[in-house]
Amino acid sequence: MDQTFVDREQDRMLKELTEFLAIPSISTLPSHAADCRRAASWAATELRSLGCPVVEIIEGEGNPIVWAESPKIPGKPTVLVYGHYDVQPPDPLDEWHSPPFEPTVRDGKLYARGAVDDKGQVYCLFKAYEAARDGDRQPPLNIHFILEGEEECGGHAIEQLLTSEPERTDVDAVLVCDAGYYAPGIPAVYTALRGICYAEISVRTALSDLHSGLYGGVAPNALETLVRLLSQLKDDTGKINIPKVYKAVIPPAKSELKAWKNLPFKKKQFMEEETTTNTLTGLKEYSVFERLWALPTFDIHGIVGGFVGEGAKTVIPAQASAKVSLRLVPGNVWEKVLKQLDNAVQRLAPEWAEVSVRAIHGADPVQMDVSDPAFKVLDQAFIEVVGQKSVAVRSGGSIPVVTRLGSRGAPVLLTGVGLPDDGLHAPNEKINLDQVWDGVRVFGRFFELLAEREATA
Ligand code: BES
Ligand code: MN
Ligand code: MN
Repeated sequence: MDQTFVDREQDRMLKELTEFLAIPSISTLPSHAADCRRAASWAATELRSLGCPVVEIIEGEGNPIVWAESPKIPGKPTVLVYGHYDVQPPDPLDEWHSPPFEPTVRDGKLYARGAVDDKGQVYCLFKAYEAARDGDRQPPLNIHFILEGEEECGGHAIEQLLTSEPERTDVDAVLVCDAGYYAPGIPAVYTALRGICYAEISVRTALSDLHSGLYGGVAPNALETLVRLLSQLKDDTGKINIPKVYKAVIPPAKSELKAWKNLPFKKKQFMEEETTTNTLTGLKEYSVFERLWALPTFDIHGIVGGFVGEGAKTVIPAQASAKVSLRLVPGNVWEKVLKQLDNAVQRLAPEWAEVSVRAIHGADPVQMDVSDPAFKVLDQAFIEVVGQKSVAVRSGGSIPVVTRLGSRGAPVLLTGVGLPDDGLHAPNEKINLDQVWDGVRVFGRFFELLAEREATA
């Protein structure tokens, strides 16, 4: 690949990426369905202009999938490139220093919702492809693109598509660029992702809200009932009160635990720069990495009920609900965990309340074998461009479709150019522009090296 590409095209690239990021493609909010479509067609137009002869916007339930194929070169390997064009909601809005959908550069960093997760990284892959075919050269190998628009809310559409058309994943390697470096200067490939079981717990205690003066003291309160119930789902040590969730866990291999011990990690710095908390929670007998990567979690994301408007209202709420999730690790199966959560909730529910658990989405944990030769090729590209090969780590996050992407035996190279302080899902999400430019170079070089290796094999 022509290593001057990035220097030459930087200004144009920043303009294009800004355009992509300005589309508020928030998949979880139905009011943004049209914006998700606009983001899909922006990507499709881009792939057409990059010279892909096959570009499809595949309609199904929910947001469309974008599929593209580079000009077919028989005898060359095929890489499937995955990414997502949807983003998380931007709130709380007043914490952004510049509006989330008006991408702004400050100090070499591009701030916008989706900057790193995942539009900025998808864009890196587009430009890596463009760089690899710079001018009117053929790209050196076959590249297929698959982009979804529902990753942030469960990945249903792509799951459906790949269940009915699994041959789309019959490729030599899958490249997923939706994660990040282990630390500045240290690229990473991921050996596992946690799964997730996301649900809503609802409580009803009466037909309608009640006057808290007339009935307070005798009538049960749905919000209080919910909060008491939630507080019993995890104890003070951080242990989830659903024993079966732990019994299923397959602990990491000794060698993996040993490798984690050798990773550079400073708890104080981690708290200052990443969590911004003054303590870390969870089971103290396990290391921070074990708690993040190898143990299930239970979190409460939000509670709705009663009166939260301005002023005061003396009411006993008749109903309340909470959004919760468990992160899952190897051994856990999300549908089983959902039943176990339901059982636990019913066991803890007092007889005066009607309590229900409704699944919102789920994904199983996934482990990736990183021994395929394609990983060596990726490392070669990292070494040439950033002077450092990758470390193999896990992530506590989830990407529901990853299991599918590798189900036909192709190695899944999960990596990325994000940095630990990028603020995924948070206000002031950003991507460092130098990481974007390096990403274009790394993945461009990766495509070339992969083509060379296979051609001489
Ligand atoms: N890209 C993230 C997941 C991720 C981040 C993996 C960093 C590895 C390193 C992804 O977009 C994400 O946020 N996924 C959701 C999935 C869920 C809504 C089903 C998550 O983990 O909360
Ligand atoms: Mn992502
Ligand atoms: Mn995300």
